[in-house]
Amino acid sequence: MNLITWQECDTRAILIFLWPKFRRISDMEAVMDRRKFIQFGLAGTTGTLVAPRVILANTPDQMAGGVYHTSEAPGRWNKKVSSHLPNIEVEKQANGAKIQVFTRHELDDYEHYIIKHVILDSNYRFIDERMFIPGKDKEPLSEFTLEGYSGPIYALSACNQHDTWLNMAEI
Ligand SMILES: [Fe+2]
Repeated sequence: MNLITWQECDTRAILIFLWPKFRRISDMEAVMDRRKFIQFGLAGTTGTLVAPRVILANTPDQMAGGVYHTSEAPGRWNKKVSSHLPNIEVEKQANGAKIQVFTRHELDDYEHYIIKHVILDSNYRFIDERMFIPGKDKEPLSEFTLEGYSGPIYALSACNQHDTWLNMAEI
């Protein structure tokens, strides 16, 4: 006994309804087999075309100015650097550091505001984040305490209109 999926059920019903010549199950199955062959063929082709692009684009330097922005690579927002680049202040402590991140950007309403700050480690892995609420939070200012960490630290500042900006500091 052959089991069929819901997707195949739908396809058979549509073929019978719209295409009266498919009264015989064998005719329908022949069409569906061709359909599956085309789907798998396209999937294989897509995988072949996409994979090299993903590998080539998967380095931070190539993403700057597109996926995220920096002072050196502001991309299409080259007039927005001062109001969107997160400023990082580091206060070293006995076992780590206190990090203060500030973006010189308005935070009055949801039309245009800084959504959040995110802190990443030297391998761009997530450490912590702070979300902002326009009207409730007065300015895009966040503080993080990092215990037992030393080395590069990255801060992301995300604007709802002007994308995400990256800056780096050393602890
Ligand atoms: Fe903005």
